[in-house]
Amino acid sequence: MTTSRARITKAVIPAAGLGTRFLPATKATPKEMLPVVDKPAIQYVVEEAVTAGLSDVLMVTGRNKRPLEDHFDRNYELEQVLRDKGDETKLSRVEESSDLATMHYVRQGDPRGLGHAVLCAAPHVGDEPFVVLLGDDLIDPRDPLLTHMTRVREEHGGSVIALMEVPQESIHLYGCVAAAPTEETDVVRISGLVEKPPAEEAPSNLAIIGRYLLDPAVFEVLRKTEPGRGGEIQLTDALQTLAAEPSLGGPVHGVVFRGRRYDTGDRADYLRAIVRLACEREDLGPEFRDWLRGFVTEEM
Ligand code: UTP
Repeated sequence: MTTSRARITKAVIPAAGLGTRFLPATKATPKEMLPVVDKPAIQYVVEEAVTAGLSDVLMVTGRNKRPLEDHFDRNYELEQVLRDKGDETKLSRVEESSDLATMHYVRQGDPRGLGHAVLCAAPHVGDEPFVVLLGDDLIDPRDPLLTHMTRVREEHGGSVIALMEVPQESIHLYGCVAAAPTEETDVVRISGLVEKPPAEEAPSNLAIIGRYLLDPAVFEVLRKTEPGRGGEIQLTDALQTLAAEPSLGGPVHGVVFRGRRYDTGDRADYLRAIVRLACEREDLGPEFRDWLRGFVTEEM
């Protein structure tokens, strides 16, 4: 277990999943590259990490994921064309993603589950606490979550995961926790975790969402974690071991997030994210909102 005040600088973004819910779009394109308005979903996630002070980003990738690396790299030809045209606005948009963070990549090989993807980050992360951000979970930048999670780790040590209240009938879609309240509102102490339980067996309506602040002890636990639900090595199962045995890597706490979040890996939520973010944009918003109002009144 590392000290709870160690500064956290490393972010791990697992992006090696197959994205089957978005086929055929994801046959040759990673789902993380699908645009949310005019930025790929993954860029919002890297921006969130950087805003929280995590300037060292490791992406866990797999086959078909080259576009992810290209997106965060320079594109000299395109930059030169835009420079020659004097189009500074577009040039800065192109440069933005390559200047964001220090990017590193590791390949997962076979997508053997989220826990296995996180384990692939072990050599890079070493013995430091780190943050895992799922590439298809988009947290609105106006509702900071990672800073709250960091504060909870400073106070309690161990690991901290993000939770969200969901209707009981949706809990089977998520990892779910058994938890007890603490003195702080919306911070809970977790005693058990279960991946995608049937509603009648779910210990609560608190669902795990894609932000985890992990003690490096999780790696040792993951090495010993057998494949679980769906034959995959589940991060939830490793967290269950940590929660049950705090001597391994400290307690596991949860922060209940009440802000805006979109699961861009889900088609309906992806559409909601685009409509909402487009409506709020200064450049596109006014015209798009007018059109949307008309569309809803006349065609729905
Ligand atoms: P999902 O459960 O959303 O799976 O993974 P998926 O394969 O990406 O998408 P669908 O369900 O087939 O449409 C949650 C996160 O974990 C990563 C994914 O990239 C995603 O960010 N992941 C999952 C890995 O990196 N490796 C894996 O083996 C599995």
